[in-house]
Amino acid sequence: MDLPDSSDLSRRDYLRALVAAGGTAALSACLDSSGESTVPTGDPNARPQRQHAWTDVLATDEDGNPLNPEHHVLLSLELATDVDDDSREQVETALRSLESAYAYDNQGLLFTMGYTPSYFDALGVDSPIPEPEALTTIESPEFDDFDALVHLASDTPDVVLEAEEALFGDVSPNNTEMEATFEGVFDRGSPRRTGFVGAGLPAQHTDMSGVPESVPEDAPFFMGFRSGFAESQAPESRVTIEEGPYAGGTTTHVESLTLQLRTWFEQDNHFQRVAKLFSPDHAENEQVGSVGENLSTSTGVAGEITEDTATDAREFGTVGHAQKAARARDEDGTPPLLRRDFNTVDGDRPGVHFLAHQRQIEDFVRARQAMAGEDLAGDGVGQRLNNGILQYIFVRRRGNFLVPPREKRALPTARV
Ligand code: HEM
Repeated sequence: MDLPDSSDLSRRDYLRALVAAGGTAALSACLDSSGESTVPTGDPNARPQRQHAWTDVLATDEDGNPLNPEHHVLLSLELATDVDDDSREQVETALRSLESAYAYDNQGLLFTMGYTPSYFDALGVDSPIPEPEALTTIESPEFDDFDALVHLASDTPDVVLEAEEALFGDVSPNNTEMEATFEGVFDRGSPRRTGFVGAGLPAQHTDMSGVPESVPEDAPFFMGFRSGFAESQAPESRVTIEEGPYAGGTTTHVESLTLQLRTWFEQDNHFQRVAKLFSPDHAENEQVGSVGENLSTSTGVAGEITEDTATDAREFGTVGHAQKAARARDEDGTPPLLRRDFNTVDGDRPGVHFLAHQRQIEDFVRARQAMAGEDLAGDGVGQRLNNGILQYIFVRRRGNFLVPPREKRALPTARV
């Protein structure tokens, strides 16, 4: 991939574009541009057993909501050797080397390693998670059928790039030694996906044909609003597997979407956008503010607003995405998904890699079907039209992953 031209871009967007480009040339350019690295090194023994236990070490916004790191790489891997004690040790040593290289926080490196049903099939053991499948009648996605996925995340762009290169090449991450790499055990698979999240980053893409000038300057997500309020996220314990050989682990679903932002910003007004993303109540009562700044740690959809979803469809002819999705909460009001989604411009078009952790893939399916609102279609709203944000999002890919507890993260073989 060609490197981006630094003279055309702000420094922040140039670094973001280098992460998207990937490879050693992008890494050198990123290190040159970032100056002397100040990321502290880390201690593998201090990392928790749950690979997904990031929340305590994430930065928070002014209201106390955890902030997903700014830069992300989803690295697809194909198994290239037999799974045995040697290959398992090689993978574990490579991962521990990364943990020694970087602090366990948002400036350092946060990562998870997960495995697809194809991986377990190749080993001849029953997969602990189902094959991905289309979850609604309005999609025909491709599926992630490579073997493993490493999700790398950091606020420091060179950290995600360098960690990726270190897993495969001759790179000393943060000036520490890689005692092993993935070389010979895994080949790079396809697709390589990247992304970003943070106030101001989406608006830096208005040079792209699919991104209108009207994306708000300070929005952290392409659709113009804050997301990931603490109250609407599952606690890490709710997404942790409780029993069996993978107790302490979790699952990941990655849904890659493209966005139709022109219609969203140019045909709809702010009132309609708030009604479709949150609820008609939020729009009428002007609860949200321009990018969600009036909501502190909760959208307030749980309870009455969620219960009114079908009535809103009939009476207002519009339902909100958040109010629909909250119908999938547990009986005691706990959200079942821990969403760690981020924006992308992979393929030169705006999109979202919607990455969520949940105890079992069935929890994701339940939430996704609540969001699809197929039960509401025909009763005041269409299959897509005025049915939350469905008119503006297009599902391209889906993947399911088992993310074992840390002690079993290297080439797991347990039967379930
Ligand atoms: C472009 C795509 C998407 C955008 C822009 C988006 C945006 C939002 C926003 C703004 C909220 C309300 C704020 C918050 O609670 O964080 C929300 C809530 C939520 N979204 Fe999405 N979302 C998208 C895709 C999805 C997908 C694919 C799912 C899959 C199931 C999903 C599930 C949820 C859930 C479960 C909630 C919380 C509902 C509750 O309060 O219990 N979203 N989303």
